[in-house]
Amino acid sequence: MGAAKIETAGRETTMGWSERTRRSFLKQFGAAGAAAMAVANGDGFGLAQTATPLPAPTAADLKQAATRDTRMAWWHEARFGMFIHWGLYSLIGQHEWAKENEGVPLSQYELLAKHFHPKPNAAREWARLAKRAGQKYMVMTSKHHEGFCNWDTQLTDYNAMDQGPRRDLVREFVEAARAEGLRLGFYYSLMDWHHPDGAICKTDEAARRRFVDYTHGLIHELMTNYGKIDILWYDVAWPLTAEEWESGRMNEMVFSLQPDIIVNNRNLLPGDFTTPEQHIQAADAGRAWETCMTLNDSWGFNRGDDAWKTPKTIVDNLVTCARGGGNYLLNIGPEPDGSVPPESMEILETVGKWLNTNGKAIYGAERIEAEWTTNLNFTRRGNMLYVHVNFWPGHTPAAEWLDFYKPEVVVAVAGLKAKALSARLVKTGQKVEFTQDEFTLRLTGLPLVAPDQPATVIEVECDGEPATSHSALRPLWPRHKVGISV
Ligand code: GLC
Repeated sequence: MGAAKIETAGRETTMGWSERTRRSFLKQFGAAGAAAMAVANGDGFGLAQTATPLPAPTAADLKQAATRDTRMAWWHEARFGMFIHWGLYSLIGQHEWAKENEGVPLSQYELLAKHFHPKPNAAREWARLAKRAGQKYMVMTSKHHEGFCNWDTQLTDYNAMDQGPRRDLVREFVEAARAEGLRLGFYYSLMDWHHPDGAICKTDEAARRRFVDYTHGLIHELMTNYGKIDILWYDVAWPLTAEEWESGRMNEMVFSLQPDIIVNNRNLLPGDFTTPEQHIQAADAGRAWETCMTLNDSWGFNRGDDAWKTPKTIVDNLVTCARGGGNYLLNIGPEPDGSVPPESMEILETVGKWLNTNGKAIYGAERIEAEWTTNLNFTRRGNMLYVHVNFWPGHTPAAEWLDFYKPEVVVAVAGLKAKALSARLVKTGQKVEFTQDEFTLRLTGLPLVAPDQPATVIEVECDGEPATSHSALRPLWPRHKVGISV
């Protein structure tokens, strides 16, 4: 092991790893990781980090960590992906958990497989929509909790080739994504409501052996039969532990078949990224993360679910993910024939138009330390700050009395920790005047009506890495007297 020692940022690092890789590896493996690095580096055990002992990292873990930056470079640049939940549950059209939530007996549920007849090349429509929406990768459910396999597997006839579709829907998805130049991945549910050993495997070792071999076999097919796969998105590891799933061996197999692949953290191993669901939560710096979210409240098609999010909410969520250096995996739940619900189409088209103009504020955006505000959101690329105005101020009566709001329209950013050098409206390219003092940056003379929808982006070139904090100013504001001073 032990690559030559190199200098980075005045700190000795090992094995040619970047500081980020080193930190994320230590986060992942704590003391055990530090010990392994020390061994690999041939020096003392000085780097212990966390209290909770974790299984010592395997050679595969070390290799995974060492290749992470390279494997994930495209993913960090991409920021925005499409999740697709599609299966037999789409025929019921009442959410992907219908079987369990409603208690549908298996003997009835299986009948759906006979009646699943998607229209030809449904996945083409998804891929073209993803492209128009500005999504750079797609992740489709190869097998969800229901256990039905959307591909031509040799391990069960509960699959799309032997039942209703008589087609390999995973192959169609792969070809569609590639035809649009998009990266692609497979969602795979470890939990299986169909396989006879899917529950007793917890207490019956022979059943566990059969079920784990079945699971590894299915994953092996997915990693072998469809060419280069960019992402493996495990889900719901009930009822087994990482050891019982043999998740280490599972990942080792996956990486041996797909050396450049990226895997998530839902087979109970840390994997390459964390997966906050239905909420946005940045991982610690150095740890990759991706929020997955529905456009309404359901992953699978749910006819009655009209809780559609607005394009403004979706754009702001995407901005908040990019602000934290994370990705946004936004879901569609196609109808049984594969059609995309019109509401989903409309929202994604609107988001795509916005990204056509403002993509540079999202793709490749790096983590920025920026404090919350109600009207604004922020992203950063290098020293370029992107101010996202969600609620355009327009004319304020206060401008009549307060110079602060002149010349209208003024958008102000308190607590910017960098010097602004220039400012421009991204939508029109119009140069924006501004003033800046130790308290605030005032972008002035802006149009009365918002130049862009659902958010307007102002690009501010700074003399260094921008960050914002209005609360840091609170103790610094000059104050006058108890009574009014004007
Ligand atoms: C949850 C849901 C599952 C969905 C997944 C997506 O695990 O139970 O249905 O596929 O989230 O992240």
